Amino acid sequence: MNDATAAKPTEHAGEMLWEFWYPALRSGQLRGRKLVRAMLLDVPLVLGRDAAGQPFALRDVCPHRAFPLSFGPFDGTVVECAYHGWQFDARTGQCRHIPSLTADSKIKCERIHAGSFPCEERDGYVWVFMTNPEGRPAGETDVAVPPVPELPTFSPRYRIAHLAADLPCSVDHGIIGLMDPAHGPFVHQAWWWRTRRSIREKAKQFEPIPNGFRMSPHAPSANSAPYKILKLATGEPSTTTIDFVLPNQRFEQIRAGRYWLSSRTTVTPVRRNLCRLDFVAAWNILPWFPIVPFIIHVLGPRFIRQDTEVIEKQALGLQYEDRMMLVDDADRPARWYFELKAAHLESRRTGQPLRHPIPAPLTLRWRS
Ligand code: FES
Ligand SMILES: [Fe+2]
Repeated sequence: MNDATAAKPTEHAGEMLWEFWYPALRSGQLRGRKLVRAMLLDVPLVLGRDAAGQPFALRDVCPHRAFPLSFGPFDGTVVECAYHGWQFDARTGQCRHIPSLTADSKIKCERIHAGSFPCEERDGYVWVFMTNPEGRPAGETDVAVPPVPELPTFSPRYRIAHLAADLPCSVDHGIIGLMDPAHGPFVHQAWWWRTRRSIREKAKQFEPIPNGFRMSPHAPSANSAPYKILKLATGEPSTTTIDFVLPNQRFEQIRAGRYWLSSRTTVTPVRRNLCRLDFVAAWNILPWFPIVPFIIHVLGPRFIRQDTEVIEKQALGLQYEDRMMLVDDADRPARWYFELKAAHLESRRTGQPLRHPIPAPLTLRWRS
């Protein structure tokens, strides 16, 4: 595992991955009959809740003359275009009424559709399945919609928290930043967390999992204070497992006896050069002792701010250079990400199962 340095043209850089679920909004942003705009993978969306409270997502472009449907009105069943009053079923996008048609018109308005996307709520987010840029209605595509992603939880009672930040970068830089172990001592320096002097050699076991890879369960880094606190607070040795799964999800689980903390970070492409980071964590660790809320609500935003600032500064250089050097072993996860993405696109193209780029468990070594 010791290529000294390696430069590799990263195939499919910046390419967005279709036929996956992405979080569009927080659940609480959709209330009553309100129509809310969102953007995912450069597709403008209008979201709302139907009369039964179920969320829906339409392409925010009227098929008549492209007027944004989000200008409404919406009665709980149909979204009406504010330009010429065409009406569309909120759930299917099917056109229900064209006011300008006369009784003898030959136009079959039920054949006309606004783009529509599968839409579901989970873990406090409204998720949209991005079938394709047009949002062709189900039935015209042969895509099977998989279950919406869910944060793993391990007991019936737990607390949950959400954080978010905008990242001004392409999806690839956002994602490889997410699983980059070497920036910690430089970007996330703090006396209570780690300093440059706390750098030491790490060796971690990795293994392939479906559509991704796992840093196998291991004792958390001994040089990070929150993990020490966790051990003191629970009195149990803890283990951490970190998974990356296409297209954009990083899961981390910390288990200590019957206590657990489970988090998921997603980096979602909004536009070509803008992503949104969404972090959700659930835990049952010591509900009467606010150590985890402190870590999540005080340290979490601080960490995310540090990452956001570093991405903003990186964008200054990326205007002039879009190649990158991926240096083993610290950048091996980044390389795996690009290989997984290429393998996924190839499997979509050929219809064959994904050829996983990580053949077997292996150990990576780096200093951080
Ligand atoms: S543009 Fe929507 S009805 Fe004409
Ligand atoms: Fe970071």
